[in-house]
Amino acid sequence: MLDDARAKLIHQLQCAYSGELAAGYAYRGHWHSVRDAGERERIRQIEAEEWHHRRLVGGLLAQLCARPIRSREAIFWIIGRSIAALCHLGGWFFPIYGAGRLERRNIIEYEDAATFAAACGHHEMIDCLLTMAEVEWEHEHYFRHKAAGHPFARLFRLWEAPPPKETIRAKNPHPALPPRFARGQGHPLSLTRERVPVVLLPRAREKVPRSGG
Ligand SMILES: [Fe+2]
Ligand SMILES: [Fe+2]
Repeated sequence: MLDDARAKLIHQLQCAYSGELAAGYAYRGHWHSVRDAGERERIRQIEAEEWHHRRLVGGLLAQLCARPIRSREAIFWIIGRSIAALCHLGGWFFPIYGAGRLERRNIIEYEDAATFAAACGHHEMIDCLLTMAEVEWEHEHYFRHKAAGHPFARLFRLWEAPPPKETIRAKNPHPALPPRFARGQGHPLSLTRERVPVVLLPRAREKVPRSGG
């Protein structure tokens, strides 16, 4: 049972790690393709948060003595780069719509990972994982709000809305969770709530500065 949960946690984190790679590149192309300065800044921020998540997930995998899956990395690198290129062709609505749908799944991905972490006794990872789920919730909320204001939203039904953000903590408590692993205190990697600082530079290739995570 423990081994099964640990295997599921590792697989979930390997999927998330590569998913964040695709997301990072896709958002890089996305913010380059939008004209509104406020939207560019927010999507650029989201890109930085996805790279931050990838570093965090990589740390969790290392803690479990596991590694990313090379073939998955290659596939998701291609997916991310392809989406980035398509953002320049797909107009304004479809990249926003696609991003929102994906973010909806990302929330569940980290909630499931937290469940597996609890099941195999890695309580120290729960806060980090649920905090990432909350950040994905904020991403979904942003894209939902944007997509809903576009006329195409009448033609393309929006994806199912997630429950309120508070439910991420409320529905994922673990009875065995010691008090010291309460929000923000559990793990040296549990710093995802902090906004990743983004330095606005004219080129997309600069490295996003590391945050405290
Ligand atoms: Fe993410
Ligand atoms: Fe996200």
